[in-house]
Amino acid sequence: MSKNIIVAIDGPAASGKSTAAKRLAKALGFLYLDTGAMYRAITYTVLKKNIFDNLEKIFELVKNLELKLKFEDGVTRVFVDGEEVTNQIRTPEVSGKVSEISRIPEVRAEMVKLQRKLAEQGDLVAEGRDITTVVFPEADVKIFMTASLDERARRRFKEHQERGEQVTYEEVKENLVKRDKIDSSREVSPLRKAEDAVELDTTNLSVDEELQRMIELVNKARK
Ligand code: CDP
Repeated sequence: MSKNIIVAIDGPAASGKSTAAKRLAKALGFLYLDTGAMYRAITYTVLKKNIFDNLEKIFELVKNLELKLKFEDGVTRVFVDGEEVTNQIRTPEVSGKVSEISRIPEVRAEMVKLQRKLAEQGDLVAEGRDITTVVFPEADVKIFMTASLDERARRRFKEHQERGEQVTYEEVKENLVKRDKIDSSREVSPLRKAEDAVELDTTNLSVDEELQRMIELVNKARK
């Protein structure tokens, strides 16, 4: 049996990774892995259990919780210990804390283990911050996705508005800047462009153009 194909995508917050990765996975019939959703689910649970300041309890939680992702009809449904948290993990509250939880090495170690296990199930498109550098450094296609800060803030603000969440454009932008700073400067698995990753700036690309570029990269890698 030939080995599974892995497409790895990294990039700063709201750079369009999720939309791109989902559409690519659908177009190619690959599995889709949203690793940010995993860190968000942990953060949501930590906040719910009120253990944000208790590292011991956080370690215990990540070791024991059952995290499930189901990709259905273009949506990643997320379950923690059987409870669906799909919408709860995208709130401004969770976005405000997720980078502080995901900088904890023990949290990352558990998540990376889970992510590699998922990749045994078939061809995969995975996106996050350390996918091209740490989780799947041998990926067949590596993409570093970017977009201007204003464009990223505009996209994310629109998503919050569509969900009826009370947050201003300025707050959204501030959160992106803060998370990018923590994500890029942390000691373990910081966000950075892998040397052999192709940079894709989506500021002025339509979702169809973006998909086309990615399909070209996959086809090239398959040859
Ligand atoms: O969708 P958005 O770009 O806002 O972020 P996300 O992909 O949902 O990731 C949320 C947060 O999880 C990031 O800001 C990182 O702090 C963390 N994360 C990470 O550390 N490593 C990953 N592979 C994916 C996400």
